[in-house]
Amino acid sequence: MIRFRSIEKSYSLGKEQVDVLKGIDLHISRGEFTAIMGPSGSGKSTIMNIIGCLDRQTGGEYLFNDKLVSEYDDMNMAKIRNRSIGFVFQQFHLLPHLDTRRNVELPMIYGGD
Ligand SMILES: Nc1ncnc2c1ncn2[C@@H]1O[C@H](COP(=O)(O)OP(=O)(O)O)[C@@H](O)[C@H]1O
Ligand SMILES: [Mg+2]
Repeated sequence: MIRFRSIEKSYSLGKEQVDVLKGIDLHISRGEFTAIMGPSGSGKSTIMNIIGCLDRQTGGEYLFNDKLVSEYDDMNMAKIRNRSIGFVFQQFHLLPHLDTRRNVELPMIYGGD
């Protein structure tokens, strides 16, 4: 279960502040398929980075399986990514110095499997 409550995200660029997400409410149930659509620069990647626990919002609350991700430290964010979230990136993000099998094994090693 994914729930956003008034999620905000701003980036700082030097002295400039760019307000990208301005109070997003979102609810995605277990097993539900959802597509996030919008023109380039509208904030899709910003939302996906927050849902995927790769980045943090600057305002509002994010609940993942009824737990407040906003209060998680980096280690617990990493645990959610390792155990509960699967990413399919446009780029494969494989490590070139590892062969295919080692690339597949690596997250399992981090996860203690
Ligand atoms: N790390 C960043 N620092 C500053 N501005 C950013 C950063 N990432 C994204 N932005 C800005 O936030 C807005 C939304 O970007 P993004 O989430 O990548 O949109 P989309 O994925 O829909 O194309 C854009 O104006 C972009 O320039
Ligand atoms: Mg994008």
